[in-house]
Amino acid sequence: MSQTIIVTGAAGGIGSAICRGLAHDGHRVVVGDYDGEGAERLAWDLGKEALAVTVDVGDPASVQKMVEAALDRFGVIDVLLNGAGIMPRHPVKDISEEEWDRVLRINLKGVFLCSQMVARHMTERKEGRIISITSGRGIAGAPGAAHYAASKAGVIAFTKSLAIELAPDNVLVNAIAPGVTDTPMSQAGYTEEERQKRKALSPLLGGYTPVEEIVGLVRYLISDVTRSVTGQVFLLKTP
Ligand SMILES: NC(=O)c1ccc[n+]([C@@H]2O[C@H](COP(=O)([O-])OP(=O)(O)OC[C@H]3O[C@@H](n4cnc5c(N)ncnc54)[C@H](O)[C@@H]3O)[C@@H](O)[C@H]2O)c1
Repeated sequence: MSQTIIVTGAAGGIGSAICRGLAHDGHRVVVGDYDGEGAERLAWDLGKEALAVTVDVGDPASVQKMVEAALDRFGVIDVLLNGAGIMPRHPVKDISEEEWDRVLRINLKGVFLCSQMVARHMTERKEGRIISITSGRGIAGAPGAAHYAASKAGVIAFTKSLAIELAPDNVLVNAIAPGVTDTPMSQAGYTEEERQKRKALSPLLGGYTPVEEIVGLVRYLISDVTRSVTGQVFLLKTP
């Protein structure tokens, strides 16, 4: 059955693949991103069942506007996919307080704000799914990006907590933890030589997580066969 899905970070590598996959399946997609032009371009490509929204997930007023725009246009929100994220790279000794706050604001507070806002709607309906893209780094740590790892570990703990809170209202809350995926985010963090090396490896041995696997997992988590899967973190790499 066709669903209405808000995707944040929708103009990025993983977000846009998810939007394309879900639109292809006949779902209505709210393409939310800080990069408003990127969101517009993608929504245009996806067709008239897609709505582009410029959003800053760290700003409550902006998140509220996105949720209201989704409800105005489609009347319902079935799924929230939290995909927005940033990963600046610095060793702990060089992370400024400003950068620490920015990473936590977008990667963790953003997940909180978007989830809180849609949860109000979903708990009223007694139906809904919230999926957040965390990271293998949130489990294993990330030398050179400790603030990123901390934010993603926070997303995992938040997911597990919210899953228990929302279970009585039939809202399922899960997280996907990809390994390194070939997107603008990871392209910025590695040299061409490192990227080629990774490409040659199996995902199980440190190669790229195929983005199709992330899209496939999202399809599974919003399907009718997962009525009791909640509070889970799906790690798409070898621990
Ligand atoms: N690429 C990887 O290797 C990898 C691995 C594990 C997890 N992840 C996670 O997957 C998610 C998507 O990453 P990606 O690789 O597609 O990165 P990306 O850089 O391609 O996309 C991230 C998107 O988030 C948007 N964004 C940034 N700040 C925002 C804000 N304040 N409000 C709304 N949107 C904002 C950006 O404009 C961008 O379009 C992120 O949460 C990331 O941490 C990525």
